[in-house]
Amino acid sequence: MADIFVCLKIIYSLGYKLYNMQSIKSIPSPKGHWFFGHIADFSEKARHKLNESRINEIGDTFRIRLVHKPFIVTANQEIINQVLSLRPHAFRRFNKIDMVMSELGVDGVFNAEGIEWKRHRRAVSESLSFKKIYGFYPRIIDKSNRIIERWKALEEAGDSLDVLSEIRSYTLELTCSLIFGYEMNLIHGKADELQEHLDRILPMVNKRIGAAFPKWRYFPSEEDKAFHASFKYLETLVLSFIKDARQRLENDPDLRSRPTNFLESLLVEQEADRFSDKEIYGNIFTMLLAGEDTTANSLSWCLYFLAQHPDMVQRISEEVDSVFSEEPIQADPDKINNLKFTKACVEETTRMKSVAPILYFEALEDVIVGDFKINKGDSLMLQTAINQNRDTNFSEASSFMPYRWLKGECPMGYQHNPDQVRTFGYGPRFCPGKNLAYAEMVVLLGNICRNFDLELTVPANEVEEVLAFTMHPSNLYMKLKNK
Ligand code: HEM
Repeated sequence: MADIFVCLKIIYSLGYKLYNMQSIKSIPSPKGHWFFGHIADFSEKARHKLNESRINEIGDTFRIRLVHKPFIVTANQEIINQVLSLRPHAFRRFNKIDMVMSELGVDGVFNAEGIEWKRHRRAVSESLSFKKIYGFYPRIIDKSNRIIERWKALEEAGDSLDVLSEIRSYTLELTCSLIFGYEMNLIHGKADELQEHLDRILPMVNKRIGAAFPKWRYFPSEEDKAFHASFKYLETLVLSFIKDARQRLENDPDLRSRPTNFLESLLVEQEADRFSDKEIYGNIFTMLLAGEDTTANSLSWCLYFLAQHPDMVQRISEEVDSVFSEEPIQADPDKINNLKFTKACVEETTRMKSVAPILYFEALEDVIVGDFKINKGDSLMLQTAINQNRDTNFSEASSFMPYRWLKGECPMGYQHNPDQVRTFGYGPRFCPGKNLAYAEMVVLLGNICRNFDLELTVPANEVEEVLAFTMHPSNLYMKLKNK
């Protein structure tokens, strides 16, 4: 009898849900151009902000149209969670990303789908596991020490720092070193051939992913031709690094248990999954694309906040002194894990300034999410940064308050819901590089705050968010003062 009652209850609630379900056509849409739809707004550099203000006016979910292509835009956390969780079977990344990558012959974890994705994902996640990252610490520390040396010289010369460009040289040099063992010397101002090629490749891939029309296919410009030449250069270089790494692993079997970079680790992990060299290359390229800008932008935003809070710079400096007994930072994972306030500054920055504020998806089947029936082929723009910036989830959400992340320091009665943060995504395709990004950020911040006081040389409200695939600060300059 009780079973029948439970069944009836389930049938009733399913029926109720189906009855109340909304079709996509019933979702409100702001007024747009009769032909172009909302494309003019969409080309804005801060389109995430525009969507955000529409959410405030219309509500969490609305529809837009980019010429003929409709998109559901949503900040509804239930829908966001379901879409991100129902992968790889019910949703895929927007096919534009795969189109641009596949056209270049890039076959890696970010653009793979279905069973192929599972194969890539297993090997990539293992190669970026905590244990593997510990082996990367000596290089992270070395690169961070080198940028401190460079900044000391700049400080003496009284130069103002172009923060994003400086931090990018750190993350680019570090990423190439950790991912495939290529050593640059950008931090000391030396030009590097690979850097020149990457400077052409990475922004162009971003530009193509965001382009409304694939002009390069029909009318390739000089820029497109230079891009393809650079791409070829990178591919040849990485393939030669793969060959050398394979040889090293053969000559020194011990290296299998203590790989010195992601490539060596991936070569060990890939054996079960039988990757071709082209797929290994695809994943190296993916790591460069996914890991470099994101980390540089987040670090730059963190410095932006810290420059406005000298007391926090001081607290980081004291924390590093106490953990390392006034010695230089060492590659000791336990000690680095004890830089708790420094890490809290990273958590607070990534909460407030998500560098991936919009994620794009396409439904692979008819599926119900939240109160909506989504049809196969429908496209969604998930506004993942909204909820983590709402007072209902984090009290005084627009204030930089790193201590809210520390046990015992979050003020009584404050809202604090870390499980609302989606900066690194969610579900099975959650960012596998988060731990590496945190290691790079915590070590560099600790080192910077120990050595310098920071001062913005532009008014804080003139530093703006610009979205170009990832979101970065524009116009961020500061002065350093040696401690
Ligand atoms: C602050 C730094 C970073 C941020 C904010 C970030 C953010 C993200 C986000 C939002 C996604 C999509 C997740 C999803 O779809 O659920 C992602 C995926 C990914 N990230 Fe990161 N990321 C960062 C650093 C890195 C680093 C350092 C690496 C590696 C070197 C990396 C490698 C990847 C890869 C391979 C994927 C694709 C995973 C998959 O599709 O299975 N990321 N990241």
